[in-house]
Amino acid sequence: MINTEIFQLIAKKFKTPAYVYEQELLKTQLLTLANAILWRPLTILYAIKANSNFRLVRTLVNQRLPKGVILGVDAVSPGEVDLALRAGVSNQNIIFTGNNVSNEEIDTVYKKGVMVNIDALSHLEKFCRKHSNGRICIRINPNVGAGHHDHCITGGPDSKFGIWYSQAQLAQNIADKYNVHIVGVHQHIGSQILDPDKFLYAMDVLFEIAPIFWDLSFVDFGGGFGVPYSPEEKPLDIQSLGAAMSLIFTNFCDKYDRKLKMVIEPGRYLTAQAGYLLVKVTTVKHNPDGKIFVGVNSGFNHLDRPARYGSYHHIVNISNPNGPKRKVRIVGNLCESGDKFTPEERKIAEPREGDLLIIENAGAYGYCMSSNYNLRPRPPEIMVTKRGSVCEIRKRQTTEELVASA
Ligand code: LLP
Repeated sequence: MINTEIFQLIAKKFKTPAYVYEQELLKTQLLTLANAILWRPLTILYAIKANSNFRLVRTLVNQRLPKGVILGVDAVSPGEVDLALRAGVSNQNIIFTGNNVSNEEIDTVYKKGVMVNIDALSHLEKFCRKHSNGRICIRINPNVGAGHHDHCITGGPDSKFGIWYSQAQLAQNIADKYNVHIVGVHQHIGSQILDPDKFLYAMDVLFEIAPIFWDLSFVDFGGGFGVPYSPEEKPLDIQSLGAAMSLIFTNFCDKYDRKLKMVIEPGRYLTAQAGYLLVKVTTVKHNPDGKIFVGVNSGFNHLDRPARYGSYHHIVNISNPNGPKRKVRIVGNLCESGDKFTPEERKIAEPREGDLLIIENAGAYGYCMSSNYNLRPRPPEIMVTKRGSVCEIRKRQTTEELVASA
């Protein structure tokens, strides 16, 4: 945890709002996951969409991992592929899992030597026609979905993702017709999953159909590993989940009679808890009906999750930690009434105008989902190292830049 003095120093030096990341925690999360899953070989594809800050990605790429574990990247656009390559990830350790992407995008990425994960039978046919003898991965919709919000459930009958599991044989037949090798099978059922049984059940479903693909070298279970957002939420027991995943994987490899590589694609698990959005209270409004609106100098243009999904983000008043607890609504500075950091009324140590608040768990799907709505600049991103030194890893946009490019 970054201490209050460092947040205060950052506010002074770089002003607010600012995204702040704790470098050591990024490394710890990666190592925890790498050690929890016992199966080797293991490739951890960082889902770069969760936070694509270059220096943050480099922190993960530079981390030494246990023997048999490799860090790669799960990319969903040509831009993400290029960023991963620029961050030093080998093309062999990137998988492109696009959804409804164009054939041109698939070709561009494939030409860079990146494994393409095919999401639809029509794309498979087109790909195979062009690339006889090619090697690909297939994304399956296993008819299982999970996640913290409907928008983040990516498996099941209402999901647009993947090839429906019962069409697996059709997919293999198409590949066989053109002598294309389906070397990987993939699923990603959703995001922010805290129930280990959901993962294990989905693995079982995938393994029921996986033997149809006779030429596999890896199986990719996607991401979705959840982290606690509210004090009541229990963390995922990653050690027992990792052990159970490894056991199911061993059993499958025995049955398949080939030692396969396990692949996972965590995004949030690696970065969420390492990030904070540091904001300042601009306004405290006491209404006659007793409601207290605490306005801050940021909004859903910087952290969209509370407004978009109703997500809980823990908020701490670091300027007045021992102040009396007050029931307040923390709201942003955008001209929309949905611009709330607390979708509910919440008890917080009394916020006063000028106080600094930290909004926790902002390291995943924070900055990368930000916008210039209301023509407001994006905040800077600051990395705090183990020794407490502070480094600006992306500059604040300026109003002049925004106006010039409008
Ligand atoms: N793999 C694929 C194919 C994905 O689509 C995703 C996330 C991941 C891996 C990583 O999932 P994670 O481990 O981070 O749960 N904006 C939402 C989350 C959207 C997730 C999209 N896909 C949020 O703020 O909760």
